[in-house]
Amino acid sequence: MSRRRFLVSSLYASIGLVFAGCGKAKESDHAMHGKSNESSADSHSAYKEFDLNTLLSNENFRAPLPLLLTQEGGAKLATLAIQEKQVQLSSEAKSNLWLYQDQSGGSMMDVMEGDAVRIKVQNHLPEATTVHWHGIAVPSSEDGHPHDLIAPHGSREYAFTVPADSAGTYWYHPHPHQRTAIQAGRGLAAPFIVRSHNDPLAKLGIADHVLLLSALQLDGNAQISEQNMMEQMNGREGNALFVNGQYQPTLNVAPNSTHRLRLINASNARYMRLSLDAGLMTIVGVDGGLLAQALPPQKELLLAPAERVEVLVTFNAATSKVILNALPYDKGWMDGDMGWEKPAAQTIAVMQFKVVGDAVKTPVIPKQLRVIKPLGEASVTRKMVLSEKMEMSMAGGKHSMTMEFMINNQMFDMNRVDFKAKQNVVELWEIVNDTDMDHPFHIHGDHFQVVSVEESGKVTPASYLAWKDTVNAKAGQTVRIKIMQKQTGLRMFHCHILEHEDLGMMGQYEVLA
Ligand code: C2O
Ligand code: CU
Ligand code: CU
Repeated sequence: MSRRRFLVSSLYASIGLVFAGCGKAKESDHAMHGKSNESSADSHSAYKEFDLNTLLSNENFRAPLPLLLTQEGGAKLATLAIQEKQVQLSSEAKSNLWLYQDQSGGSMMDVMEGDAVRIKVQNHLPEATTVHWHGIAVPSSEDGHPHDLIAPHGSREYAFTVPADSAGTYWYHPHPHQRTAIQAGRGLAAPFIVRSHNDPLAKLGIADHVLLLSALQLDGNAQISEQNMMEQMNGREGNALFVNGQYQPTLNVAPNSTHRLRLINASNARYMRLSLDAGLMTIVGVDGGLLAQALPPQKELLLAPAERVEVLVTFNAATSKVILNALPYDKGWMDGDMGWEKPAAQTIAVMQFKVVGDAVKTPVIPKQLRVIKPLGEASVTRKMVLSEKMEMSMAGGKHSMTMEFMINNQMFDMNRVDFKAKQNVVELWEIVNDTDMDHPFHIHGDHFQVVSVEESGKVTPASYLAWKDTVNAKAGQTVRIKIMQKQTGLRMFHCHILEHEDLGMMGQYEVLA
């Protein structure tokens, strides 16, 4: 059963984003009949592949991510400029990107649990923005939600104390109403690492690497493409994958050495199904930091947009080169009856590890990494039904299309608080994906624990405890989570396919004392 609704009406729909015409040019009465006409060909030309290997041929020409924080009077003070910069992606190609940068070009935040952090942000963009510290339980006033804009050419200081027991891999990105996908899609995303003095893996001296995975959509001149309707519907998957802003970088590793890779999916909408061509990955942490115990080593893992994972990889002395690949993943595809073709299912090399030098001793990983307590009985249950609606309409001889992505049948409204909740009360949320596509569901504030996943009537309890802030709900699934907000204030929840968030699949609630 298809849950999409197609309606052709003689009126422009009154809500949602309305687009004049289906293609850029030549749209006509045939535009909605799909495959065989010019306008549909035009509308998916953004996914035309160009020769990335030629364009981005230089390995390692960008420096590793430097640290951003500087000390000032005992407190941490970072100064972050948000600006358009020309980035030399290779000797051939310069791209105009939007970047977070401190004076030395750094963008990674790297702090300790309990640190009082101050971050001064200067917005040099021609439009308003916010900075959201994804996954970190900061006070609502510092959360960078869409109500809290930094005006064009304005500035503000974010100040918060990094919560205890929150060591983990986070990131930050813009969150203005209906501009998040555009701004993040121009390059605005950076890591935010919280460390602990008692990290059992750091104590073993295991090398630690932060790998921010982004997927930009570049045109033939290496410039960011304009967002098109197909991308609004399906999310921008991007045609160029970067690791910390580098295309297919190389990391040298010693034979038998074990490395901790902190992988962040900072793409607007690309699901990263990651696999090593030789060797296994042992998951030791997810969104909210370390697990209680490492999971069994696995061949591949799926990282939905906004999710993070920490894996240990031991590089066998018998292999000289190991490639980290992104395998094809089918998250579902809506063609809007416009003949938009799915991007080709291809395997993309993300980066490579060169096994070189003298062999070292492989460390022994402790059994217990952390203590995670279950949240306990929930006293409130809420249902979040994800749905989508597409309407074709005709007015004045022109077709237009309305796309709506909803939670509980409503699109996001800045002026509506969807419900109120109580601080320090455990709630059970049932996230029901009633659409034809996967949606990564994210909640601001405190982390949650996944309880179970239901599919075709079969309930599978979560096999391990973990702190999460984003969970993928596949088409047709119901995902149950438990959450307890410890701080009061306004919190957002939304699909982290940023185009869907901008098109309405978001809500907000107020946590009261
Ligand atoms: Cu990373 Cu509300 O988002
Ligand atoms: Cu968030
Ligand atoms: Cu979505």
